[in-house]
Amino acid sequence: MRRRVYLVLWGSALLACLAKLPILPGPVKLIFWVSCILVNSPGVLLIGQLVGYLWVRTIPGYLGAALISMLFWEPLIRWLERPISRSRRVFLVGGAGFALGGYSMAVERVNYQIRSFKLYIPDLPKGLEGRRVVLMADLHCGPVNRPSSLAPALKLANECRPDLILLPGDFVHYSSSYFGESAEWLSGLRPSIPGNVIMSWGNHDHWNGIEKARAAIGSVPGHILCQQRLLLQPDGSLSDEGPDGLWLCGLDDLWEGQPDLAGILRDLPARQPRLVLCHNPDVAEEQNGGRVDLMVSGHTHGGQVSLPGVGAPIVPSRYGQKYVCGWVMGPGGYPVYVTRGLGVGAVPIRLGVRPEITVFELHRNEKTGQTVLV
Ligand SMILES: [Fe+2]
Repeated sequence: MRRRVYLVLWGSALLACLAKLPILPGPVKLIFWVSCILVNSPGVLLIGQLVGYLWVRTIPGYLGAALISMLFWEPLIRWLERPISRSRRVFLVGGAGFALGGYSMAVERVNYQIRSFKLYIPDLPKGLEGRRVVLMADLHCGPVNRPSSLAPALKLANECRPDLILLPGDFVHYSSSYFGESAEWLSGLRPSIPGNVIMSWGNHDHWNGIEKARAAIGSVPGHILCQQRLLLQPDGSLSDEGPDGLWLCGLDDLWEGQPDLAGILRDLPARQPRLVLCHNPDVAEEQNGGRVDLMVSGHTHGGQVSLPGVGAPIVPSRYGQKYVCGWVMGPGGYPVYVTRGLGVGAVPIRLGVRPEITVFELHRNEKTGQTVLV
């Protein structure tokens, strides 16, 4: 038993190291890497928590994860190797693992939750009072997030009767061939004013070819904002400029692009409110440069797994748990809302972190002079 478990642990870690070889085809790399993550999950979770998510994906990270996983597996193996009722224990442990895995893959992963907030913004034009903005991120269309599993999210989003829809990035996962599926899903969005769909890029869009992304997603009725801005006018329509309205500013991705918050806000009238789309919420920690009423982000997926008393063991952020999900105040003094996203990344599970559709109802705030989310 012990020998077999250790063979699988180290075998998968070595496969993941092999995946670093550039000669291997993409699907093989993906299988190697996912096998390492799944089999060495205790080590991956611990290293992810202590050293950072990206470091786990290095060769020392894979081997370290296998080593730490051995420490976790050892007591379990000893317990399983006790002669009395061995088969019953194997059955119990295997059954529990199978049930939890099945639930996190097949049930919670697609159990979409709508979270609604009233957003009070200073200087909001009266015409935008009560307008509904839907935020969704991280579709990750790909081998796991198929159109059939994303279809309920589309239906729910349209039932929220949005006047404006915001999608800050990560439309595909693993291959540019999924940009078409993603565009088809996006074309099914039905804001009250056709074309009121604002998108910006995430790291996976860059990784799979931003020109291919632009070609496919450019066909969607809406606007891709990459270091660009548009004004939501009091009548709900979008314009390049105007005397009154809510500015929608789209930043490029932090890991693979060059986001410039100060640049996108430059020259905007101080009395006009601004809402910033930014895939990676770490930008809020690192950039400032003018009035921001709200930044909306995704990227972290809420960690996908959240354990009681521990939180999310893996968060792809330089700032640990701070931007894992929800409402955060950055050092720049402006609020950030991080949605848990719709899809999953390489690890196809969600546990304690349901996929999310966020709804903001816009209101004027004349009392505090600050954006307030309730
Ligand atoms: Fe993502």
